[in-house]
Amino acid sequence: MKVLIVGSGGREHALAWKLAQSPAITQLYALPGNAGIAQQARCVPGDVENLEGLAAFAQREGIDLTVVGPEAPLIAGLADVLAARGLAVFGPTAEAAIIEGSKVFAKHLFRKYGIPTAQFETFDDPAEAEAYLRRQGAPIVVKADGLAAGKGSIVCRDLETAFRAVDQIMRERIFGDAGRQVVIEECLTGQEASIKVFTDGETVVPLVPSQDHKPVYDNDEGPNTGGMGCYSPVPAVSEELFTTIVETILKPTVWALAEEGRPYRGVLYGGLILTAEGPKVLEYNCRFGDPETQVVLPRLEGDLLEILQATVEGRLNEVEVRWSERKAVCVVMASGGYPGPYEKGKVITGLDQVAQLEDVVVFHAGTARREGEWVTNGGRVLGVTAMGDDFPSTIERAYAAVRRIHFEGVHFRRDIARRALQAVVRE
Ligand code: AMP
Ligand code: GLY
Repeated sequence: MKVLIVGSGGREHALAWKLAQSPAITQLYALPGNAGIAQQARCVPGDVENLEGLAAFAQREGIDLTVVGPEAPLIAGLADVLAARGLAVFGPTAEAAIIEGSKVFAKHLFRKYGIPTAQFETFDDPAEAEAYLRRQGAPIVVKADGLAAGKGSIVCRDLETAFRAVDQIMRERIFGDAGRQVVIEECLTGQEASIKVFTDGETVVPLVPSQDHKPVYDNDEGPNTGGMGCYSPVPAVSEELFTTIVETILKPTVWALAEEGRPYRGVLYGGLILTAEGPKVLEYNCRFGDPETQVVLPRLEGDLLEILQATVEGRLNEVEVRWSERKAVCVVMASGGYPGPYEKGKVITGLDQVAQLEDVVVFHAGTARREGEWVTNGGRVLGVTAMGDDFPSTIERAYAAVRRIHFEGVHFRRDIARRALQAVVRE
């Protein structure tokens, strides 16, 4: 079988690493991939948003299954374009991917189907949005409707910040047309967790939970990033709470999308907040998480390809999905300056040594090869994942590997999975 992975980040490297273990795959491709992914897959240059170009490549090459990493091509309709050519694809159609593509759509769906979420209103007129802000007061959250590279949700401690957010999103259009409408919602407090399910539109199979660390600095300080680290499982999500989340949030969302004539096939990712009143959904993504995938897939036992194929073919009820009890911790090593401007091309050392370590895998997010050396080539550079039997030793194993890897200006958080430890100590 020939399988193509679309994308170029750490998430796609984790997908490539896991799929490379699948005996049925004769050739793995990545478009465009990265230097790390090139260890498992043949990397093909190309633009993930050139849907027709991508589909033409898949057809020409006789690709049996395309697995899509990032949201933008899915929301733009890559699954539809591939399906129109009779090609199999893991990822939802544009009609279903709208659950991530439009926060206004998602919020109205939650309201219509009684799915627990923050109270909200939506606006297409900035003056009305401002009047609502004045009535509600702060703290409050302002969100651009469409895709905004993860920067479209602004948690506003005071009204001044909220007015500025509305102004920038709706009048200045800093996120372009994504800011034609906004969602304004109540500010919730609690730990966050990522809960994902595989679904073929009928059967829903949960993945193990994980917790991301979005802010760039320790103790959740500084601006939000794509994610600075992750761990799984999440002690704060008890088995009972996990069941509640799947039964009252994820499954009802899958049924709601089907009911709306937008059947969802792929992996559905719920960003949850665990409030004192119970879990609520903050947003959905129509894809695997990054860096969540770097801790979730190492815990998957068995063949990922089988699950992806069953999802695509609408027979997910036939596969058994098993997870390891082990813990996984991923520490992201980033370029100094990220998520702001940063330099590229810094030589990375230590990767060969770390490759010898047991229970450690290094996923590449932004690297390149230059004259036989590894160099940095992105904001997030590496995701170092360790596995172990308990959190203290797994965290130590991840950081022991991180300490062996060097590049100029490297930045990483030193408190990844500390919350898991606190939860363990309390037990
Ligand atoms: P989103 O783009 O909706 O995932 O939001 C990005 C981040 O903003 C979330 O991970 C939360 O940390 C924060 N956030 C979003 N919505 C809310 C809310 N209603 N209350 C508190 N924090 C929020
Ligand atoms: N780690 C957050 C995301 O994948 O959206």
